[in-house]
Amino acid sequence: TESSSLAGKTVLITAGPTYEAIDPVRFIGNHSSGKMGFALAEAAAERGANVILVSGPTNLHPVHENIKIERITSAREMLEVTSKYFDEANIFIASAAVADYAPKDVASEKIKKNDDSLTIELVKNPDILKTLGEQKSHQFIVGFALETQNEEANARQKLTKKNLDMIVLNSLREEGAGFGGDTNRIKIITKTEETDFPIRTKNEVAKDILDAIETRLSNNQTN
Ligand code: C5P
Repeated sequence: TESSSLAGKTVLITAGPTYEAIDPVRFIGNHSSGKMGFALAEAAAERGANVILVSGPTNLHPVHENIKIERITSAREMLEVTSKYFDEANIFIASAAVADYAPKDVASEKIKKNDDSLTIELVKNPDILKTLGEQKSHQFIVGFALETQNEEANARQKLTKKNLDMIVLNSLREEGAGFGGDTNRIKIITKTEETDFPIRTKNEVAKDILDAIETRLSNNQTN
């Protein structure tokens, strides 16, 4: 709506999984649906933001005309494309489930099933959120944390290590939270505050996150 402080702002969002090629027909990936990132994109666009959505492979399509979609496959491509838009972004939200590792070498031909065992060497992928956190100037940066243990301590550590303004914690232990499903239960953590939310649909969670961002931005006019 006209009254949103997101109107006219540029919101950069990463979403979905990344696929890391093993050979021309195979990859390492994960079950991220992209729903959370796409919900954030729609909600931000509805508030008048110009949204750039950098998404890994999903079946989803943006609806709102203010969403520009950039489809990528691998973590390296996600970093490349996201970096291109970082300077013009007012807000960066990293909701993608980026693969932590990628095959060191991509076989140029389909790997044959000759041997009884096969070893694929993996190398660490770039951390997109951390890389851009290090380049932060005016941007308000939001990350996600999905933890199975010491969730809060780990989330707080990420907030500091990745130079974030806010981290959204969702617990895998929580029924109805996390990957694939339509609902999520989150805790929003900033340097000074911590807020628990009830279990909600991902569309509602997206609005809660944007509300929290708007509140923080209006309290901190340096952004
Ligand atoms: O360190 P961890 O993967 O738990 O951090 C999760 C957060 O970092 C998410 O916001 C995710 O989108 C982002 N991330 C990223 N690039 C990676 C790994 C995680 O942007 N390679």
